Amino acid sequence: MNKSGRALVTSVIDGAAMSSGRTLPSTNPAHIEEVVAEVAFGDASTFVRAAESAKKAQEYWAAIPAPIRGRAIAHIGRLVEDNAEALARLVTAEIGKPYGEALGEVREIIDTCDFFLGEGRRLYGQTVPSEMPDKQLFTFRRPVGTVAVITAGNFPVAVPAWYIVPALLAGNTVVWKPAEYSAASSAAFQELLVRGGGLPDGVFNVVHADGAATFSGLEQALEAGLVDKVGFTGSSTVGREIGGLTGRYLQTACLELGGKNPLIVTPSADLDLAVEGALFSGFGTAGQRCTSLGTVIVHESVHDRFLAQFNAAVARARVGDPTSDVLMGPMMDAKFADRFDEFLGWIQPHHAVQGAYGKITDDNPRDGFLGDPSTGLYYHPVVVDGVRPGDRIFMEETFGPLVGVTSYQSLNQAIELANAPGYGLSSSIYTTDPKDAFTFRDKISAGMVSINNSTSGAEAHLPFGGNGKSGNGSRQSGIWVLDQFTRWQSVNWDYSGRLQKAQMDIVELTPDTTYRL
Ligand code: UN1
Repeated sequence: MNKSGRALVTSVIDGAAMSSGRTLPSTNPAHIEEVVAEVAFGDASTFVRAAESAKKAQEYWAAIPAPIRGRAIAHIGRLVEDNAEALARLVTAEIGKPYGEALGEVREIIDTCDFFLGEGRRLYGQTVPSEMPDKQLFTFRRPVGTVAVITAGNFPVAVPAWYIVPALLAGNTVVWKPAEYSAASSAAFQELLVRGGGLPDGVFNVVHADGAATFSGLEQALEAGLVDKVGFTGSSTVGREIGGLTGRYLQTACLELGGKNPLIVTPSADLDLAVEGALFSGFGTAGQRCTSLGTVIVHESVHDRFLAQFNAAVARARVGDPTSDVLMGPMMDAKFADRFDEFLGWIQPHHAVQGAYGKITDDNPRDGFLGDPSTGLYYHPVVVDGVRPGDRIFMEETFGPLVGVTSYQSLNQAIELANAPGYGLSSSIYTTDPKDAFTFRDKISAGMVSINNSTSGAEAHLPFGGNGKSGNGSRQSGIWVLDQFTRWQSVNWDYSGRLQKAQMDIVELTPDTTYRL
């Protein structure tokens, strides 16, 4: 607590809270006057010190047997489960995610822990036959070392868990830089991690800093050899910077970036189901998931029916107070609201929008709004029909409650439209024709494909990640993320007592190649 009695969130390095001169409030976007926590900001040197602390603790942590680290992950999962409602309430208060979705987000941490607790008893390597006698080959997974995790605040606790849980399980130590606007949620998660896991000091460090200080601290830490792997979830623009920086140190970052996720509606689709999917993936989390729906690409024969049904569903949807049962609450933070205002400026005369858009106010009201819109950062959900390649709305991510609609004639054309923006995170097709589903799966550039399901809502144990502008090919979750946080070591053990040269000292069997039946 600070002088005013509000929670003070600080960086934590080697188990100790780091106070600093500069504090900023993290506010409730549903009640912008309400400060959820004061956040003490560190600078580049704070980041470097955190990396030093992680580096110092790593050897000790890696020496703890993996099954014991797995037990730590199990305890973290149970502690999160026992605190699920309180953590979800905090997420709702800090970023305005509707409570039901916030509970789902917390569940995603628990699922991740449930998956990795057993991995502590596997972390399998292989035994591999040698081409020579009296020689054995093996592979071992080794921890990468010190991992820096930099995350966005739209999933302030679940997405960090996707990195942190497997990183710790595999024997790495961590420096985590959460988003500034979700600092209180991150502090709560940090408590659950450290206490639940019984983590020794230095194994898990948290730095609160702005983007510029983080980047410079990361650069210094890389230069000093203190960071061995970077995980980053955020915009494609910053992802490029991080990818460039880590590349200079011969590292590949694990990058999870933006998306312009398409949803194709074919003539055979169940339209009610497609509308339901478009509604949830377009406007859940107020359109601020990286998996949020970007553009609906609907066959011309069902375009008008789909659009009418979709517009009606959007008009009916409950918008307002995120502590109640709504589809959509406020934007997460003023910075996203301001940027969304810019995106709305991309709507052009050739587009068709039904109903109001922009900020919900007394002068620009929304029927059935739950609560008082003037207290928060509430926006109308908006459907923009008639988008086309070349439009910024069609080509670029519009993080917020905006869904574009366009129509197509042939499936190949639809898939071309779906791939055109050059992202490649998530995608969806609604169809009852298996041929359409398999053609789509084959030709879509996205890392994640939904058939008769929305673009968002990936399960926590399938590979998560994208292609193109959505990432650099890295995948999170399930067994696949282990390749991010471990390196393969190959071992050969020759017990023949002589030097057997590979490829040279091998037994040749003589085939009879001239034999014919
Ligand atoms: C994100 O927006 O960065 O698939 C992650 C989903 C969630 C995770 C989204 N399980 O929509």
